Amino acid sequence: MAEEKLKKEETLAMRLKLIGQSCRLFYSEDPVKIIRARGQYLFDENGRRYLDCISNVQHVGHCHPAVTKAAMAQMDVLNTNSRFLHDNIVLYADRLASTLPERLCVFYFVNSGSEANDLALRLAQQYTRREDVVVLDHAYHGHLKSLIDISPYKFRKLAGQKEWVHVAPLPDIYRGIYREDHPNPGQAYADTVKDLIEEIHQKGRQISAFFVESLPSVGGQIVLPEGYCSKVAEYVRSAGGVFVADEVQTGFGRLGSHFWGFQLQGADFCPDIVTMGKPMGNGHPLACVVTTKEVAAAFTANGVEYFNTFGGNPVSCAIGLAVLDVIEAEDLRGNATRVGTHLKDMLKKLQAKHEVIGDVRGVGLFVGLELISDRLKRTPATKTAARLVKRLKEEDQIFVSTDGPWENVLKFKPPMCFSLENADLVVRCIDHVLTDMNANELRLENEDI
Ligand SMILES: Cc1ncc(COP(=O)(O)O)c(C=O)c1O
Repeated sequence: MAEEKLKKEETLAMRLKLIGQSCRLFYSEDPVKIIRARGQYLFDENGRRYLDCISNVQHVGHCHPAVTKAAMAQMDVLNTNSRFLHDNIVLYADRLASTLPERLCVFYFVNSGSEANDLALRLAQQYTRREDVVVLDHAYHGHLKSLIDISPYKFRKLAGQKEWVHVAPLPDIYRGIYREDHPNPGQAYADTVKDLIEEIHQKGRQISAFFVESLPSVGGQIVLPEGYCSKVAEYVRSAGGVFVADEVQTGFGRLGSHFWGFQLQGADFCPDIVTMGKPMGNGHPLACVVTTKEVAAAFTANGVEYFNTFGGNPVSCAIGLAVLDVIEAEDLRGNATRVGTHLKDMLKKLQAKHEVIGDVRGVGLFVGLELISDRLKRTPATKTAARLVKRLKEEDQIFVSTDGPWENVLKFKPPMCFSLENADLVVRCIDHVLTDMNANELRLENEDI
């Protein structure tokens, strides 16, 4: 049983004093202290239980016994760096390979999604011997300096856009430049990348890579339109670049129907580099880059060793293997499909009742609920979204968060053991809060209440 070492007020005071204030807390006005967790539930210091719709990292459920057991067993025997021969790293790479298209067969293990994307950038730049990168608007690829440079979500608030970074429109068919009524939004958005590449060439520059989250998350839980990736890959490759799929949020079966997000784009589509992270270690820092033999060979050819102290160590790989085992043994992909489809259907029913719900989208347990104050103009209802999130926490002990350029999209990325009953409860509570927020409150979207 977890015990509190400090009173909540003491923890908060120490945190404010000792931890950098850019490391923000959830619910900063009234932060929650969590002292233990299990499955899809988090418990505070008073034993109060919260339903977790946020923790996509604790993929197979918080503190899954099979994962902690695998970690402890390996921890007790050996943990070294990956310069010694060990079974776990190769067995794990082999298991991952079985989930991927054949040409993605060379693995590099690292410790975070940011490290994975930074290495992907190096691989792409080394292979193509070029620097320039195309990214989607509002994208986020990590917190390292190299990745802030290719993350419009961050660099717009910081140093701005570097001359080697080029931003293509986000293929958001709800509020982007081409919408659901367009006959072929996948092609139309892919053409914006083609035009951008032409502009880049006109400036006398050449592209190295196109980076994309397989389903853009901070962009607002976007599902890329059909055909988009294949077309973009065609344009990018014919310009000499490589296609990098960032699966840090979307991999490992979250979508149910597919193990990887890029597979939604069809069996024929295969990126040149894939990065993975968050769910891989169920909370243990474990991430990875996988690429083709050709890209890997170019990286090797520079003659410089790639050494990562913690990446691919026996404990991390034992954990990674255990996570894969649990996904299979508990049919968590099947669960993601069943529960995710039910959640989306129920939210769509709510959309018919509440004007403020503009869009419901997603696949499996990656779902977005976009709130708007005007259905015609699709004006983001940012404050309503914030109030709803706050009330769900305070009245119903449900943790949900928002995303999207206007923070008006409620995102659902719960642990994969999320149940039908959990989905029903969430929808019931959202319905209750939205019904209770009287028309005035909803109309006053643009004013502080
Ligand atoms: C799509 C995507 N890529 C990369 C990262 C960076 O991963 P990490 O925080 O593990 O460094 C994140 C983190 O939120 C992410 O959402």
